[in-house]
Amino acid sequence: MARLQWLGHAAWKIEIDGKSVVIDPFLSNNPVAAVKPNQIGKVDAVIVTHEHGDHVGDSFEICRNSDATFIALYELATKASQNGVKKTVGCNIGGPFNVDGIRLAFTPAIHTGNASGVVILGNEATIYHTGDTSVFGDMKLIGQLYRPDIALVPIGSFYTMGPQEASVAVSLIKPKIVIPMHFNTFEVIKQDPEEFSKMVKKRAVGVKVVILRPGETFEYSRKKKA
Ligand code: NI
Ligand code: MN
Repeated sequence: MARLQWLGHAAWKIEIDGKSVVIDPFLSNNPVAAVKPNQIGKVDAVIVTHEHGDHVGDSFEICRNSDATFIALYELATKASQNGVKKTVGCNIGGPFNVDGIRLAFTPAIHTGNASGVVILGNEATIYHTGDTSVFGDMKLIGQLYRPDIALVPIGSFYTMGPQEASVAVSLIKPKIVIPMHFNTFEVIKQDPEEFSKMVKKRAVGVKVVILRPGETFEYSRKKKA
């Protein structure tokens, strides 16, 4: 069973295949963060989708204070290394590849700076964290390539897709489950996730919307193949 804990904003702690993977741990300066960096527990890998402060967050500190591997696009991994992180993997958009038994692929994201999304290709689940992005047509290709069970998508608007664009993204990706993120952290990205849910029901029939509050965990079991 895979466990996905939403830590608030785009931050997640994902337990999958016996590994603990943290994505975009923006915690100490995050008004809605569910945990402080020192409460994050065991971490095997920290993945950061891009260099904006609300994604890099506490990632360097978490890696310096643990044995966790920092994984990001090459330039950001180099920066982590310059900031005292010992174990870094600087990859690029593409893949898949394995890091310490975790299989990953990095995807494009339409955003400023060097932005990416990431797909975790686990035995227990395939999870696509889109990163900060607008909707783009190749989300369909990413969906066809990796067949994600779960998609984590921003709905905040202003910096990323809003609910309507995100519902179109879901219709392209076609995951089994979608969980909205990157909303209600700040006033400028205030959104109603129920509105997103209604739009998904219309545009992407059959996709289940799971709405979490920061700190809550979603558990996923892949149904056995017949
Ligand atoms: Ni950003
Ligand atoms: Mn962001």
